[in-house]
Amino acid sequence: MKDFLEELKINFDHLEKSVSSRPGSYFGLEQEALLTDVSDYFNIFSHFNHITSYVEFGSAYGHGPLIFSRLYPSAQSIGIEFEEVRFKTATTLKNNFKIPNCEFILDDLAITKIPAADLYFLYFPTGPILDRILFELSQMIHKFNLVVVESHSDLIPRLEKETWLTEAFEIPLVSPRHYSKAKVYASGGLKLSSYFDFSFKEKYFMIRDSDHSIWIGDSLGLEWHSKDSLTLLNPPYTIHENQIQALVEFSSLNSSIQHLIKLRTVGEVKIESQQKHFQGFIRKIYIDPHLIIELSSGQRIKYEDLSKIDLI
Ligand SMILES: C[S@@+](CC[C@H](N)C(=O)[O-])C[C@H]1O[C@@H](n2cnc3c(N)ncnc32)[C@H](O)[C@@H]1O
Repeated sequence: MKDFLEELKINFDHLEKSVSSRPGSYFGLEQEALLTDVSDYFNIFSHFNHITSYVEFGSAYGHGPLIFSRLYPSAQSIGIEFEEVRFKTATTLKNNFKIPNCEFILDDLAITKIPAADLYFLYFPTGPILDRILFELSQMIHKFNLVVVESHSDLIPRLEKETWLTEAFEIPLVSPRHYSKAKVYASGGLKLSSYFDFSFKEKYFMIRDSDHSIWIGDSLGLEWHSKDSLTLLNPPYTIHENQIQALVEFSSLNSSIQHLIKLRTVGEVKIESQQKHFQGFIRKIYIDPHLIIELSSGQRIKYEDLSKIDLI
């Protein structure tokens, strides 16, 4: 096995030149920051000699699934990765080493079907994609373990919000990480609904300000901030969880509000209202006590005074 781990060496710097700069690709990261050390994989898997299936979220060059499948020839492994050069290299390694019980899938974890497995591995940033992965996992009816390597010091605190996961044990890592051990969680607890269930869906929050006025924020793209705070993508505000009064569907909103929400996600607008002209990005859309648009400049315009609104 030691020889095999040695042979998994790749020309990292050369290969990484073909990686895209899309969010989540980690383009430009050093090898030891991007990849889990092969000896860590080996050590982690040695704790799971009874399991029959392994899935890695964001499998990069495939080291995890390859090592797992080599270690347990009668078990199956799957690596899911959206960067083509990493996926192709993983597939080449699998073919070169003739490892039939290992599969790589080139797909985006934002939409791909998550296969059932006994063991999952996560070394991944927090955000809507992670929220989606956790939501899908929480819906699985079988029991499994989830191994987590901390990415930026916020992944482990974020997992504490997942009531259905129970921390089982820790495994020391040689990879330099924000937290020096991999955490192993067991599924099976009760899932309570949380705002993270909506960060990858198009729903709308009714949010209360301190003066009791209500505005609308998109759930899509929300990120966990800290403790009970969330940062919205549209509009870009940080709110406290207890400001959220309700969650509604787009179809339940009237057409004026729907139009403003759509404009907000697209770009800058110019507005004519009572012979005045305004320009900026739509931020808060107040719906109670009046329909009011707040622009990025801080100016507020009552919808009933508005004569024209156009994208720039
Ligand atoms: C921090 S690296 C970890 C790589 C590997 N799991 C390891 O521990 O060595 C995260 C990987 O997830 C991939 N990734 C990020 N977002 C993804 C997405 N939405 N769909 C599929 N793969 C993604 C990245 O391209 C990257 O290879």
